[in-house]
This record gives sequence, C-alpha cells and structure tokens, in this order.
Amino acid sequence: MADTLTIVDNRTGTKYDVPIQDGTIRATDLRQIKVKADEFGMMTYDPAFMNTAACRSRITYIDGDKGVLLYRGYPIEQLAEHSDFLETAYLILFGELPIAKQYTEWTTQVTLHTMLHTNIAKLMEGFRHDAHPMGMFISTVGALSTFYPDAKDIFSEPSRRLQTLRLIAKVPSIAAYAFRHSIGRPFNQPDNELSYAGNFLNMLFRMTELKYSANPVLERALEVLFILHADHEQNCSTSTMRAIGSSHADPYSSLAGATAALYGPLHGGANEAVLRMLHEIGSIDHIPAFVKRVKAGGRLMGFGHRVYKSYDPRAKIIKRMADLVFDVTGKNPLLEMALELERIALEDEYFVSRKLYPNVDFYSGLIYQAMGFPVDMFPVLFAIPRTAGWIAQWEEMLNDPEQKIVRPRQIYVGPAQRDYVPKEKRR
Ligand code: CMC
Repeated sequence: MADTLTIVDNRTGTKYDVPIQDGTIRATDLRQIKVKADEFGMMTYDPAFMNTAACRSRITYIDGDKGVLLYRGYPIEQLAEHSDFLETAYLILFGELPIAKQYTEWTTQVTLHTMLHTNIAKLMEGFRHDAHPMGMFISTVGALSTFYPDAKDIFSEPSRRLQTLRLIAKVPSIAAYAFRHSIGRPFNQPDNELSYAGNFLNMLFRMTELKYSANPVLERALEVLFILHADHEQNCSTSTMRAIGSSHADPYSSLAGATAALYGPLHGGANEAVLRMLHEIGSIDHIPAFVKRVKAGGRLMGFGHRVYKSYDPRAKIIKRMADLVFDVTGKNPLLEMALELERIALEDEYFVSRKLYPNVDFYSGLIYQAMGFPVDMFPVLFAIPRTAGWIAQWEEMLNDPEQKIVRPRQIYVGPAQRDYVPKEKRR
C-alpha cells in the first residue's frame, strides 16, 4: 500500500501524488496544484482549525471517541489517583516522572520562588475592589515580564528553566493576592512547609492563626483538580501560547496571552458560566424549559467539546470526587440541579445526536464553590495548573526545528483595488 494521496485537479486534468505521514498530508504540498504557473498554488481553508494539525507533540494524547486522556503516556485516572500536582507538572514539563532526588529538588526549587516582589503587590493593590480576579491575574502575569527582563533570553536553556520555576511557583501567589484583594484582606505570605495546594489554600484563607493547615480532603481534592487541568493539547489558550511564543516574545507575555484566551466562557471561563447558568435556572422544575431554550439556539455551559465525543474523563473523576468534598463541606445545593440537567440532556436526542457530554467544567465549579471560592475565581483556578501545560508546549515549540512564526493565510473577499476618494466627493 503506497503512503500517498493521489489528487486529480479536474480543472487541468493534472494528477498529483502527495505523501501521507501520520494520517496527514502537508498543506504546503498542495501549493504545487496550480492552473497557471504564476499562481500562488492551492491552500486549505480551515476556519477555527477544525481539521488542521499545527505541530507534532509528545506531551498530551486525547482519544475523543474513547474518552482517553494521557499525559506523556500516563492515563489521567492513574495520575489523579497516585500523583500530586508538582510531580505531574514535572512529568508534563520534562517528559518523565521524577525519581526521588529529582522530585525533592524540583519541589524545593519551586518553593524558593513562591514569593512576589513587593511592587507586584503594589501593582495589584491598584485594581478596583471589584476587579475580576482573572483580569488581575492576566495583567499581573504580563507585568512579570518587566520584573524579569532576563526572560527575553528564550534560547538559553538555564533561563527558560528559571522562568519555568518562577511561573509555576508564582501563579498561585498571584491568584491568592487577587482573591485577598477582592475581599479586602491583607495578602498572606507563602508557607514553604506546605504542599502546592496546601500553601495555596494558606495564602487564600489564613486569618490570624500562625500556622494554617488545610483540611486534608480539600487539599487533596484541589491537587487532583490541578492535575486534571494541567494540560489538554492544542486548545485555544495553548495555541495562543504557541502563537505568541512563535514571535519570540518572553514567556510571561506569551502566558498572559494564553491566560486571556482561557478567560472566555467557551474555554476556561465555562466553569464560572456553569454556576451562573445553574443560578439562573433556579430550580429543578425550570430545567425542561431551559433545555428547550438551549435547543432553540442557546448553549448548555459545561457541555460539549471539540475533541471529546464521549464523556470527558476529567468530568468523570470530578464527579466521583465531589462526594468526598461534599462530605466535608456539606452538599452544594446546586448539585441536584446539575445532576438532573445532565440526566435530561443525556436522554435528549439533540445532545445525543451531537455527542454532547459534560466536560471538565460542568462539575468543577460546584466543588470550588463548596470549598469557599467565589464564582469569579473559577477561571483563575483553571489557569494555575494549566501554566505547566502552557510552558511545556511553549518549550516544545521553541525546540521544534519545523516551527516558525505563526502566520495563517486568508482568502481575501474585500473590494478590489480602487482609488482614494477625497472627503468632499464621498457619498
Ligand atoms: N450547548 C448546546 N449546543 C451545543 C453545545 C452546548 N454546550 N456545544 C455544541 N453544541 C452544538 C452546536 O450548536 C452545534 O450544533 P449544530 O451542528 O446544530 O450547529 C454542534 O453542537 C457542534 O458544536 P460546535 O459548535 O461545532 O462545537 P465546537 O467544537 O465548535 O465547540 C465548545 C466546542 C466547547 C466551544 C462548545 O461545545 C461549547 O460552547 N460548549 C459550552 C462551553 C463549554 O463548556 N466550554 C468548556 C470546554 S471544556 C474546557 C476547556 O478545555 O476549555
């Protein structure tokens, strides 16, 4: 069997053999297809990248039909069961699970970078009391670029390593500062004796006690949620990270852009939108009418995915974990409504025929809310762990000799060339 695709251009009758590799053809191979020699050549048209692979990646594998998610080959279920966030971040960033010595070194180095420059605190104090924490987070991550100008040295491996440590260590501190600012309480300093999630909870919730200790069930739940959100291959925010990084911007600027892409309600802002939707529905009796409105052109937030055409494996894990969390916090009153909404949707022909299932965001917000997070913090809770994935993908892009500055083509459909019309002659 030849690994080629034969294309016949019916405009000219010319036959082309295009190589197939990994089930794909190279879009640039189509450029030889022309009617006239001076033509640009054929392109593919793929708005929203529905069917275009933009890179070769070794980081995350998804089988959307089977509901499989692997980080560097390891199933998400096994990592959620046995790993912790920093170990998973190491795996995603460096390709292998750390041996004991590497793990100790990595976690120690991360804790050495958790503090924020005092001017970062001042910068964050400048936001209005009701500023959305994700807006504060995006701006502050971008501002880090001015604090660490050495980050511009993107082709230096030690520099990239240092920025990676800084970013992984500082994003929980920035998120916690944003939260404390919104509730008008002083910022809490990190406690390096605590775990990644434990320290984050300390920076968020410590009051006057000298030593904060989180409830172990909630601390573990947050670690697991962080593991589940750590990477998800070439989604909107990751593609943004790669695209900005491809212009050789520093990693803080690239990551600020990726975070902004995550903010939208169709992506990482969906967890916030789910909670607002459940509040809006108000009660179980209103669900059928709500589902009708969705089918008439609305959107059921927390449902559907570009890649998963079966149950999102992350949503399955979260749903199971919710019971453990609610045993500690008490049940989130919105849970019944979410379960009923899922039941009705999964029996409805509209959702069944389109293969729309709950995604990671459908149940995560219920847990976050039960743990005491305000709704507008939810996208920030997504951005913290995804930082590991974004950096790994950025690093992979920089080291890939096939990558260049991202620059899609367009099909121009505007006016043909015309002459300037002076103001007095315009009508
Ligand atoms: N509610 C109602 N209809 C939907 C939904 C939904 N949540 N999602 C998709 N559809 C319909 C869509 O209208 C279309 O119908 P038709 O074929 O009749 O035009 C069909 O299903 C296919 O959808 P699509 O818009 O082509 O799918 P997409 O791949 O472009 O969009 C999505 C994926 C996640 C943006 C979309 O499913 C959505 O908006 N979901 C709600 C927002 C959400 O939960 N986002 C979080 C995604 S998971 C976390 C993350 O990684 O970001």
